[in-house]
Amino acid sequence: MSKGQRKSIPKKWQALFQKALEVQKKSHSPYSGFAVGCALEDEKGRVFTGCNVENANFCESICAERTAIVKMVSEGGRKVRRIAIITQAVEPCFPCGGCLQVIQEFGLPKVIAIGRDGLKFEEIEFDSLLPRRFSGERLKEG
Ligand code: THU
Repeated sequence: MSKGQRKSIPKKWQALFQKALEVQKKSHSPYSGFAVGCALEDEKGRVFTGCNVENANFCESICAERTAIVKMVSEGGRKVRRIAIITQAVEPCFPCGGCLQVIQEFGLPKVIAIGRDGLKFEEIEFDSLLPRRFSGERLKEG
């Protein structure tokens, strides 16, 4: 068990973890066979969920994290406070680079990644996943 991994998921993450687990079951991932579920909390404490939705044209697939973000934004949410991700990997698996870029547009949330059995997990600050990120702040300097 590596640093940041504990015996059971902290109480404060339990509700989001359950939501991520539920939505993972809805994943449309016939091509990769890798189901991903994501649950996030916005600035008002509302929870949005998302799964990965694959397409026969692989390029048109969308990740679970982005599904959840799109749902949040289209319902008026503008800030991600916390985000939980569960995949089918044994080890906790953090969001891909593309999703990190999309997430940072809406805040720098606390992130928890959970392995498929729900036993291994790791909680991390967003900043350590994408420390030198490209953001709207950079555009103001141009
Ligand atoms: N996937 C996600 O949903 N989130 C990530 O952060 C990484 C990958 C999905 C995309 C694809 O449907 C499957 O996992 C395999 O890459």
